[in-house]
Amino acid sequence: MIYYFSGTGNSEWAAKTLAQQTNDRVTRITKQTMRPVSVGKNDVFGLVFPIYAWSLPQMVSDFLKDVSIEHGAYCYAVCTCGAQAGYAMRILRARMPLDGVWSLIMPDNYIVAYKVEDDDAALAKVRAANVRLREISAAINARESGCTDVQVGRFPFVKTFIGGRLFNKYARSSKPFRSSYDCTGCGLCAKVCPTQNILVAEDMPFWNDDCQQCLACIHRCPKKAIEYGRSTEKHGRYVFHFTKEQIEEGSDGEV
Ligand SMILES: Cc1cc2nc3c(=O)[nH]c(=O)nc-3n(C[C@H](O)[C@H](O)[C@H](O)COP(=O)(O)O)c2cc1C
Repeated sequence: MIYYFSGTGNSEWAAKTLAQQTNDRVTRITKQTMRPVSVGKNDVFGLVFPIYAWSLPQMVSDFLKDVSIEHGAYCYAVCTCGAQAGYAMRILRARMPLDGVWSLIMPDNYIVAYKVEDDDAALAKVRAANVRLREISAAINARESGCTDVQVGRFPFVKTFIGGRLFNKYARSSKPFRSSYDCTGCGLCAKVCPTQNILVAEDMPFWNDDCQQCLACIHRCPKKAIEYGRSTEKHGRYVFHFTKEQIEEGSDGEV
């Protein structure tokens, strides 16, 4: 089974592509689906998730607390990130035995800090990731172990162990969320939230204090009516939307 966490669809696409190529199934990690997992000695356990502040999303860390793995199981993890994973996969390796760990560079969705890439740049990343996924699938199908290929970036220790901690302590607040007059109260934001952190009342969303910062609510709002402070106003929106045909066409490129 491949377990995945995803806000804007990059990790979901990666998990589903891997599942197709390795003849496996996927389960999305959300508050509703979170339950203890036992991995038997003949099982395959895959984990796919986005990097948040060079570290793991809190929900993935919480999910792993209740995963027990029998000796002999084949385990791997793939993270998706805009550019650098830092030492996130080291943190993961310290928590569970992993035969393979890989990172995939994908379009960056962190619009609290950056503008989204234009569609051509985003597609170029996805095409290169698609090529890489075939190599990763081949390694998984061959049950290769000792595979590590992660874009760690510069100063990974400081970024992960200081930046990551500061992010979890100070940057995950729900307070800066707000909806504009364009909001129709459709409730999609509440539906896509992995922690059921959003309540829609009187045609307006309200955020509780269990935010992962996946930004699904902002990116997936059909009216672009959700902002996080002032910083997301001019940074665009991103949801994975590429078709198989777009991805496969000329997919031998590197980013
Ligand atoms: C809160 C947050 C923090 C992020 N931090 C990083 C980071 O440290 N390094 C990086 O390369 N990308 C970072 N990103 C970008 C995402 O990891 C990347 O876009 C990922 O593919 C999104 O996956 P998803 O579409 O499955 O949610 C961050 C995104 C968010 C929302």
